[in-house]
Amino acid sequence: MTRKITECASWVGYVDWPVRNFHGYTTSRGSTYNAYVVKAGKTVLVDAVKAPYADKLIENVRSVAPDGLDYVVCNHAEPDHSGALPAVMAAYPGATLVTNAKCLDALSHHYDTAGWKTKIVNEGDTLDIGGKTLKFFMTPMAHWPESMVTYLPEEELLFSMDIFGQHYASSARFDTEADLAEVFQEAKTYYANIVLLYARPAAAALKKLSGLAVRTVCPSHGVIWTSHLPEIIERYKAWAVSRPEKKVVVAYGTMWGSTRKMAEKIAEGAMSRGTVEVKLIDLGATDDTDVVRELMDCGAFAVGSPTLNMGILPRVARTLTYVRGLRPADKTAFAFGSYGWGSKGAEEAEGYLTQFGCKIARPPLTVRFAPDAETLAACFEAGAALADAAAAAADGAAK
Ligand code: FEO
Repeated sequence: MTRKITECASWVGYVDWPVRNFHGYTTSRGSTYNAYVVKAGKTVLVDAVKAPYADKLIENVRSVAPDGLDYVVCNHAEPDHSGALPAVMAAYPGATLVTNAKCLDALSHHYDTAGWKTKIVNEGDTLDIGGKTLKFFMTPMAHWPESMVTYLPEEELLFSMDIFGQHYASSARFDTEADLAEVFQEAKTYYANIVLLYARPAAAALKKLSGLAVRTVCPSHGVIWTSHLPEIIERYKAWAVSRPEKKVVVAYGTMWGSTRKMAEKIAEGAMSRGTVEVKLIDLGATDDTDVVRELMDCGAFAVGSPTLNMGILPRVARTLTYVRGLRPADKTAFAFGSYGWGSKGAEEAEGYLTQFGCKIARPPLTVRFAPDAETLAACFEAGAALADAAAAAADGAAK
């Protein structure tokens, strides 16, 4: 199946409805691997799909470009977009692969590229495709070193690679056809899990591209942005500077319910202020993919772990290890949890918070076995203070 985008551009990608695991990212709504054909005097394929779907891609290319391809543009070497390249280059041996030097180097370490015709492009280079032009902009570390985007000025169309992408399988190819609440949530999840660590390069890429006249953005995943392009750009600007919302997250693991009771009371304390949104997350029932999305824009959070085998609960450690890699910025936080004969769980959790660079709101809040009334009162107060910190962070960011 293909879809016309503009006079000369068509979508020829693959919708991966059943995929639920993308190198550890839980893709609850599946994904798409978007590829595009541009037909002018020359015919160009922009990006490819995962290797198993090469036949589907080539079938789609043939349906919109029966006379073959002159160029294949590779914006990004990650295998979800380059996996099908060996099959494409074999099917179109006369086509020239167009990419930057870093990307070609990366491709050569994934595939046997020895027989491929190639053309290296650099920042701002253009390619005349016969009545239309492709212009290339390097966007290093947004989110791989070789990442770049391709601009079609005559159509004011940007092939944005992973930027503005969403893991979202749908019959909708355009933002105007999709459930926008779902699309924006998946775009946020995508940013939190894929781009967050590279917020600065992503912001630099946005700044660089902001001078272009763009009506349509074709990302490598999810829907194509048209009418709702200004909204996704505004969201990216907020995420890129880690702008905190008036929001508190209380995330916990539990063994026999004691740490859960503490978490519920902390959340209750935060809600009592009436100034912030509160998310209470049982890590035993929640994917890390979703946890990171919620943490990304909170102003403050608390993380709870009981002590197991003289240390942190492994389920909590897993989340904190994942979050540590993505480095959400500028959060106020504290750790809490119950213990039996050594309070190492909450202490280890606090160690992670320190590694994130969090501002530690208070020492670990712990209790031996089940929380008594005094402990629950302390949890309530700690939650209320966390709400105040989140509200202050959001107010400060708004100034
Ligand atoms: Fe969708 Fe970075 O690959």
